[in-house]
Amino acid sequence: MLLAIETSCDETSAAVVHEGRVLSNVVSSQTALHEEYGGVVPELAAREHLRNLMPIVRAALGQAAIAPNRLEAVAATRGPGLPGALLVGLKAAQALAFALRRPWLGIHHHEAHLYSPWISGEPPSAVFLPVQPNVSLIVSGGHTLLARVNGELDHELLGGTLDDAAGECFDKIGKLLGLPYPAGPQIDRLAREGNSSAYSFPRPLLDDASDDFSFSGLKTSVRYFLRDHPRLLEDGQAIRDLCASVQRAIVEVLVAKTVRAARRARVSWVTASGGVTCNQGLRRALATACTAEQLQLRLAEKVFCTDNAAMIGILAERKLARGQAAMDLCADIAPGWALSPGSMP
Ligand code: KG4
Ligand code: ZN
Repeated sequence: MLLAIETSCDETSAAVVHEGRVLSNVVSSQTALHEEYGGVVPELAAREHLRNLMPIVRAALGQAAIAPNRLEAVAATRGPGLPGALLVGLKAAQALAFALRRPWLGIHHHEAHLYSPWISGEPPSAVFLPVQPNVSLIVSGGHTLLARVNGELDHELLGGTLDDAAGECFDKIGKLLGLPYPAGPQIDRLAREGNSSAYSFPRPLLDDASDDFSFSGLKTSVRYFLRDHPRLLEDGQAIRDLCASVQRAIVEVLVAKTVRAARRARVSWVTASGGVTCNQGLRRALATACTAEQLQLRLAEKVFCTDNAAMIGILAERKLARGQAAMDLCADIAPGWALSPGSMP
């Protein structure tokens, strides 16, 4: 029985996992708090985590019907993330582990995303499936990564974004269109009623041989396009067409590079996770491309796409089962921790 805590950005989450099953996964999003500022305000995020964390931990234990003294270990996200936000979850986990005299583990947030597509179902009956060799796309507000996963706890980074993350690109373009933060889900919704061929935007690094991404040029081209066509923002259908065209540009790059990396890595599975994996256009395009390339696809369930403690707990439990030692109770947060095998902050 393991309690996991996630507070790396603007979701406060706690989960209880047991032998590869997610018994509870409670998530409280701070989106409404940050909306009026058009993005996550780190100080506000940290304070909100502090306010919400213990009620959420109690709710996770309650939903799993577990008394704290039955916990065998405690885990928390150690990095990467916002320093003040990470600090709240990590110190709470260490304090709990100390009080209960149990081991504690600090988990890499992206490593947890990498394995999250293999969590199948909804708590209390979500189970962690055997991991097949795959190429994994992680797309969220803060990160865009491609990694090769050889098996459980065995992976290597293939590429990442050189500038803006895919979610950040959705959010910044949405802001130019006057949409509220976070704009990704709004663009997704409006794009369904738009014509994705209406406007042509660049597909950055699409034909580049590397597995890296770059999205800031796309954002800039939308900015110049709107500067030159300001009246478009007064036309509802033009906004829907813009959303569909922008989404198509982002999705085409993500899908083409992921499938190409999978072929190059000679794996037969593709996986995807992170908030942008909620995007209907991306889910559909990945499914179509994988079918055409005879690749099998596992998309993280939507509850495990956005930040959640279940993925932290599942990974922590696997690490403990494989004999990875518990960490020093004084271990500090690692806001800039890079994803590479065996790398420690
Ligand atoms: O993984 P996540 O919850 O948080 C981190 O950034 O770690 O991802 C949030 C990001 C935001 O940029 C949001 O706009 C984007 O995921 N997002 C979407 C959709 N749902 C969330 N982007 C496009 N379409 C969506 N449906
Ligand atoms: Zn994340």
